[in-house]
Amino acid sequence: MNAATARARAHAALTDLRPQPDDIAADAIAGLTRSPRQLPSKYFYDAEGSRLFEAITRQPEYYLTRTELALLESTMPSIAQAVGPRLHVVEFGSGSGRKTELLLGGLEDTVAYTPIEISRTALMDSVTRLGQSFPDIEMLPVCADFTRTVPLPAAGQRPHRTLVFFPGSTLGNFDEADAVQLLTSMRGTMGDGGCALIGIDLDKDPAMIEAAYNDLAGVTAAFTLNLLARLNREIGSDFDLDGFHHHAVYSRERMRIETALVSDRAQTVTIGARSFAFAAGEALHVEISQKYTDASFAELAARAGLRVTHGWNDRTDAFGLRLLQPA
Ligand code: AVI
Repeated sequence: MNAATARARAHAALTDLRPQPDDIAADAIAGLTRSPRQLPSKYFYDAEGSRLFEAITRQPEYYLTRTELALLESTMPSIAQAVGPRLHVVEFGSGSGRKTELLLGGLEDTVAYTPIEISRTALMDSVTRLGQSFPDIEMLPVCADFTRTVPLPAAGQRPHRTLVFFPGSTLGNFDEADAVQLLTSMRGTMGDGGCALIGIDLDKDPAMIEAAYNDLAGVTAAFTLNLLARLNREIGSDFDLDGFHHHAVYSRERMRIETALVSDRAQTVTIGARSFAFAAGEALHVEISQKYTDASFAELAARAGLRVTHGWNDRTDAFGLRLLQPA
């Protein structure tokens, strides 16, 4: 560890709210017992899944990440004006690299930065890295489950307001009820005078959306199938990785990508003493990626007591950033 890294780490005081660790076996068994069968998409992100997701963001078909980055870069002056100076920036998740840097670099006199994340390692790595680039911003990481309102650690200097940052259209990976709960938790964390900046993928030509989730190089398919490899390794299931294939289609009606692993034949999967019979062609649902219109997003936000005050889209209306405040 060099001196700058050591200083940045020492400077970042961790608040550990000791979140309940995930029970991956119980969640997998519960999901496989349901009809239709499903597995939680949060389990995509083991080390290999995170590496594959990074690779997805570099695929030519996956427009989301590069469009959001370019949008954030070009609209930062306007965002900074809308939110004002001296913020306590709170990120749901452990710092999304370049996006967090763009935000912190573009805001005026930011007082403190708090990423909220369940993984202590990811959390400390992110504040150590950001602490070196932004030595004047107090790093106040919180280890917690951000789906429940998180009380914020007090910053040394009094901030003017709190800004919650949730980029990447990650909100779209939560079903409607969970998305409302998450927005409600943001509402609680930001307080009455706060605001939230959220990245959302917009409804558009289904061919463009479907291509993003079916890249020609097969990286998304590998990412999806890695979930089964993870379960085999961590909970001793015996999924045959050659017996399922990735299937992602856009439901125009529900405005969302629905991703499943489809069983290629009749087969039985076991986890310990439990066995799960799959019919040929049966789908195991693993992820939704919700897309939004202005109206659908405003309606969702309203259910959490929030209203959209500002919005920025890229030139093609593919991706948007929305600023929310308590209604
Ligand atoms: C992280 N999340 C916003 C991605 C998405 O687009 O829904 C995850 C992903 N799944 C397949 N490709 C990317």
